[in-house]
Amino acid sequence: MAGRPWTRRRILGRLPAACAAGLLDIPRSAAARRSGVDAGPLRAAAVAGRLVFGAAGGSALFGDEAYRDLFLAQAALLTPENALKFDGLQPERGRFFFADADRLVDWARTQGLSVHGHTLIWNDRLPPWLSGLSRREVARSFDAYLDRVVPHFAGRIASWDVVNEPFYLGGDHPGTYRPGPWLDALGPGYVVRAFRRAAELDPSAKLVLNEAWTERADAIGLAVRRSLLRLVDELQHAGVRLDAVGLQSHLFPGIAYDDGGFTDFLHGLAERGVTIRLSEFDVDDESFPDADRDGLVARRAGAYLRAALSVEAVDTVVSWGLADRYSWWRDPSVMAAHGMTRLPRPLPFDEMLRRKPMADAMVAAVRCRGRNG
Ligand code: XIL
Repeated sequence: MAGRPWTRRRILGRLPAACAAGLLDIPRSAAARRSGVDAGPLRAAAVAGRLVFGAAGGSALFGDEAYRDLFLAQAALLTPENALKFDGLQPERGRFFFADADRLVDWARTQGLSVHGHTLIWNDRLPPWLSGLSRREVARSFDAYLDRVVPHFAGRIASWDVVNEPFYLGGDHPGTYRPGPWLDALGPGYVVRAFRRAAELDPSAKLVLNEAWTERADAIGLAVRRSLLRLVDELQHAGVRLDAVGLQSHLFPGIAYDDGGFTDFLHGLAERGVTIRLSEFDVDDESFPDADRDGLVARRAGAYLRAALSVEAVDTVVSWGLADRYSWWRDPSVMAAHGMTRLPRPLPFDEMLRRKPMADAMVAAVRCRGRNG
């Protein structure tokens, strides 16, 4: 080929300023160390990038001291991974069990972590007793749950996923409301109802609408994006408070993805005046070859974050756990359901709590935003 070779300088020169630094996050620890990108913890890098970095966590924070230390060094925010779900808080009708959740939330606060509540209303993780009720009783349980849980944590929980996964797959009809008892009993209006009630019960908590799969550019992802934008409009039209939208960001590199379409979608949300949280970040590595799994995870993570963080309204990044050892993807039933054949390595630290190239790529992406702000 005629002309000058593609030196790194030439490539950098062709990239928009906001992304140029991303090429520095060579996903190999030695190279990353030479360039200095893996020097610091994620929480400090995030501050420089005008972001909060957090992670999901649970009982491992009490049982594994090394993990606890890692968590406190890296994260400024805790999302309880399971402790605040309906089936755990109200396993029997009318009987609430707050002890485990209180312990986790109070511990996090004494450690200076901010706590994000996940999740109030979700058509999943519901106890069997709910399915035996009439629609009217389900509606009553909906209100009663919010009335009991939101005030219980008021002042201790900074933000709530008020509704999780309103659309999800939609089966054969992507972008339609996710089925379940709340939808059955109350229709799609359950979403407005939950936000209205949560706002009354805790005026100071940030209220978040959390959704899966908007990162993908296939028919499912595009339909969910459209539905989510429409729902944000509906909530605002109804006059209820919506502070932020959470995008789960479980990345599936085997599925279509496009930076441009995704950032257009993020701008669409930002134009509606909400902030955006990448709320459950991790990378499925099942399709990557053994030889360079960690490197490819790092590349995917870095590219995704660089694109998303170019949108200023994104103010929080939460990874779904910090170390592969505790990733939900390693649950044997989850692995079986997704046909996974190797132990997944989706997070910034490994099962020995060693830093992976993904952590370096995340720091580099965040610093890139810091430099371009
Ligand atoms: C997952 C937890 O990580 C697992 O430990 C649990 O067994 C199932 O739920 N989207 C969500 C989270 O909103 O609540 C899910 O968390 C992961 C997918």
